[in-house]
Amino acid sequence: MDKLLIHGGRRLQGEVRISGAKNAALPILCAGLLVPGTLELSNVPQLHDVGTTLKLLDRMGVKSTRDAAAGTVTLDGSSVTSTEAAYDLVKTMRASILVLGPLVARFGEARVSLPGGCAIGQRPVDQHIKGLQALGARIDIEHGYVVARASRLKGTRIVTDMVTVTGTENLMMAATLAEGETVIENAAREPEVVDLARALIALGARIHGAGTDRIVIEGVDALHGGAYRVMSDRIEAGTFLCAVAAAGGDLRLTHCEPDTLDATLDKLREAGLRIECGPDWIRGTMDGRPKSVNVRTAPYPGFATDMQAQMMAVNCVADGTGVITETIFENRFMHVQEMRRLGAEIDTEGTTAVVRGKRGLSGAIVMATDLRASAGLVIAGLVADGDTLVDRVYHLDRGYDRMERKLAAVGASIERVRTVDDA
Ligand code: UD1
Repeated sequence: MDKLLIHGGRRLQGEVRISGAKNAALPILCAGLLVPGTLELSNVPQLHDVGTTLKLLDRMGVKSTRDAAAGTVTLDGSSVTSTEAAYDLVKTMRASILVLGPLVARFGEARVSLPGGCAIGQRPVDQHIKGLQALGARIDIEHGYVVARASRLKGTRIVTDMVTVTGTENLMMAATLAEGETVIENAAREPEVVDLARALIALGARIHGAGTDRIVIEGVDALHGGAYRVMSDRIEAGTFLCAVAAAGGDLRLTHCEPDTLDATLDKLREAGLRIECGPDWIRGTMDGRPKSVNVRTAPYPGFATDMQAQMMAVNCVADGTGVITETIFENRFMHVQEMRRLGAEIDTEGTTAVVRGKRGLSGAIVMATDLRASAGLVIAGLVADGDTLVDRVYHLDRGYDRMERKLAAVGASIERVRTVDDA
């Protein structure tokens, strides 16, 4: 099992190319199921989750060719042979639920394993199911699988109980092939939802209002092939900015979309990071020690829950006390115990964490528990005195494109190691 060995205390200096967004790439790959032709994607990040999605699609008969280094994937959905997503893959990647909407919309049937809970919370999919039922699908839960059947979905008005990103995406994809108009109220406004809508429009879908809380989809009889470039990863960009805010230095991020990062940029400015932005770049400079900030996660355009662990790492070494409140997932503080092993002073009560910043942390062995928690631990390790060994790096590999190489290229002392006991 791979681990990351970090020798802390180096400033970060140089340029980082930001990759395509995981949370846009995964739904857009699943949209390949809607297309009886080819979908050519570019700016697809080199991530484990992309590989898992392609495997999932391959089992259904969607052929793909991928040039991982070039970031291109071509999907061919013209001869789908199966409408099942099995437990062995779904359990490793919750985003697999995104095949449900496309399958039932195009083929009138789908059998998709229920993802189950995960480390950060229960994460039910009831809103996906409720929305598909409203569109006319019959849904049964059989042997741990969601089984959906429909002749043709019928457009309707759906009001979700809470803002859900993949829920909105699943229903938007399903509605592209429904008969008549579908309105999704209380829709997620995340930029990745907008990116998926743009991709679907490039394939012939009729969608208005993506990026607002009311999305209107006029169903069409069929989509067609096309090409699309996946948006830049705002969470990866935010993670590198947190890294420079904590470790100090001067980073210029290229190929990014500053407009999608407002809440993160505001908090980092408040923390003392000097930020300059161009149309597709962001420069972050930090000389002294960061200042503590209070953070409350919220649906977009609020502060992203996917940035919470990284911002906590900044607070761990900041001047002052910062309060972090997690409002999206009920159990997303598992990095706290590990950050404490590095000497951080953090108290938690329920979904609130009080972080008393310290001048320094001290390196230790820590365990990554989920994707963004791992990124928080890497940032803490960049600042800690001595060696930090981050175990279970596979979490990080699921969602960050060669993070340690990018960090090493801007001056961090970080390397991937494989220990003998794992051989
Ligand atoms: C997506 C992102 C994830 C991010 C999250 C919140 C992808 C692949 N993943 O996850 O990185 O952390 O948005 O920004 O894009 N909920 C229900 N019932 C449902 C659906 C959701 O109760 O049917 C709840 C969830 O448990 C959670 C909240 O709603 O408390 C928001 O979840 P949601 O936006 O759906 O997160 P994901 O789409 O799974």
